[in-house]
Amino acid sequence: MCGIVGYIGANGAVKEVLLNGLSKLEYRGYDSAGLVCVENNRVFYERSLGRVSNLESAVVKSKVLKLIDNKASFGIAHTRWATHGKPSKENAHPHKAGDIYLVHNGIVENYKELKEALLTVDGSIEFTSQTDSEVLVHLISSKLDSNPRRSMVEAVQSSLNLVKGTYAIVVLNIVSGEMVCACNGSPLVLGIADDEGLLVASDTVALIGYAKHYLRLADGDVVSLSPKEYVFVSGTDKEVLELEESGQTSSLGGVFGHYMLKEIYEQGEVVDRVVNNKGQIYDILPKILKAKRLIIVGCGTSYNVGLVAEYLIERLSQISVEVEVASEFRYRDMPMSEGDVAIVLSQSGETVDTLEAVKLCKERGVLTVGIVNVEGSAIANACDAVIYNKAGREVSVASTKAFTSQLAVLSMLAIMLGECRSSLTTIEATNLMSELSNLPAVLSQELDRMSKQMEDLAKKYGSIENIICLGRGVQSAIALEGALKIKEVSYINAQAYPSGEIKHGPLALVDPNTLCIILAPKDELYTKSLSVIEEVKARGGIVIAITTPNGKEVIQSSDGVVIVPSVMDELLPFMTILPMQFFAYHLALLRGCDVDKPRNLAKSVTVE
Ligand code: AGP
Ligand code: GLU
Repeated sequence: MCGIVGYIGANGAVKEVLLNGLSKLEYRGYDSAGLVCVENNRVFYERSLGRVSNLESAVVKSKVLKLIDNKASFGIAHTRWATHGKPSKENAHPHKAGDIYLVHNGIVENYKELKEALLTVDGSIEFTSQTDSEVLVHLISSKLDSNPRRSMVEAVQSSLNLVKGTYAIVVLNIVSGEMVCACNGSPLVLGIADDEGLLVASDTVALIGYAKHYLRLADGDVVSLSPKEYVFVSGTDKEVLELEESGQTSSLGGVFGHYMLKEIYEQGEVVDRVVNNKGQIYDILPKILKAKRLIIVGCGTSYNVGLVAEYLIERLSQISVEVEVASEFRYRDMPMSEGDVAIVLSQSGETVDTLEAVKLCKERGVLTVGIVNVEGSAIANACDAVIYNKAGREVSVASTKAFTSQLAVLSMLAIMLGECRSSLTTIEATNLMSELSNLPAVLSQELDRMSKQMEDLAKKYGSIENIICLGRGVQSAIALEGALKIKEVSYINAQAYPSGEIKHGPLALVDPNTLCIILAPKDELYTKSLSVIEEVKARGGIVIAITTPNGKEVIQSSDGVVIVPSVMDELLPFMTILPMQFFAYHLALLRGCDVDKPRNLAKSVTVE
């Protein structure tokens, strides 16, 4: 995770360039932040715990570290998501060794070994943090000390040869102004500044306002940067791309208090956008139709969407589907054959476990089709084919509209596959498609009401510390996604089970202090859900039910009810997820949690 930004060039206001970039990269990690820069011949070095805004305040008061004679302006900055060493000022990046400063995204797996070797050679090296990253800066500095004729780029290269793990690094000599960046398994882009100079960042969003063109570095690249040019010292020069600014930024616009709420409200719009972009799904359909089995891979919410899709695709098209958590799939040694097609789900397009799963599928000769939100992202680039789910930038760490847009893509895919394989008649397929197209209209009428109802229920049950979410059939996947939302943003212990499983163990948890949210729309499994409500009530548990207007028995038996509109069974997940998202949001708000940036998390998970 972590956000990196660096600048070298003519812009005198380098602190502003770096802080602006960092605030846009904060979604990648927000436990601490830091920068070092040379602005008008003065060096500033500042780090602080917490958000980028804390760093900004510290920088305002910051004293000049030293005066140097260098006409250029340059600097590097970092917003951290700790992997090694707790969030603290000492562990915040940049790390330093003499005049060399470094920011790192990734994990140096053999850092202990490297540290020991460094200390054996020179016992006077002082490590001031618990991070794995700090070893890199000392390694580079020791390479320079041992051979003063070596350039910094050579020192970086030979240091990286010793590293096991993943990295995106930017290294800066604050006196000479030498800057080098490199990556392997963590993303980096190079921006060509509008005025003279170069930027380097973890994501193109940090370049907006400063560059209109950029290039994306690949694994193994080592690039030396100066105000006027970049030189690929390892790897080959890359194509210069135009920076697409639209859809990269999002603002609250004064209407919503939080991005999570705004994004919940955007779900009708995203379904509309997917429905109006069916062409991209049709284009890929012939390849998917050849599949004997689909393997759906993803993490977190993307995995949960995969579970919903498993029910839909199997039911509508009779193709067998396996859904895999990417981090497990990588190490499972699952038998795969040419008859398999992998559908890879990722909002960010950066999740390292998912990216590695793509590589594994490709090694095994399995066609990979990505359903990705971020255009040009690593997973989008790595897959053989991509469908963009076009949710627009999702800012809230807790994913909502990306879930719905991925689900819209997969629902359309399931319907198309079903029709092509004749497991659905053309009339059935047309009816499903037209109901899907009508969802945005249905949603726009229902969101305010659902939000209000869930707010009232959150006020009533907000002090509860244990929640169990239950659903049958496809709703079991919605229960999982709902529980994930509650955990992420309100920090309440929320578990999820297929409701038939409750009697096999989780029922032991049920008591008058346990809230069970039971997804019980009037579908073919309605009566089963009704029995579960009775079982929970018989043990004194509290039940909030999510049902459709015709679910009279559920309405009568539950302590709290939210009605979602009746739509065709296959599309009910689009409805039942909404109260779950609203409930998580209102619980978090009432409990004073940081809704958009929950503790310990980050939006983009680029470490294993
Ligand atoms: C969702 O609310 C989570 N923040 C998280 O589970 C996320 O879905 C997961 O990390 C996968 O991310 P991706 O879709 O960007 O690959
Ligand atoms: N491993 C580094 C640290 O803990 C960087 C973390 C990351 O990239 O997420 O500081």
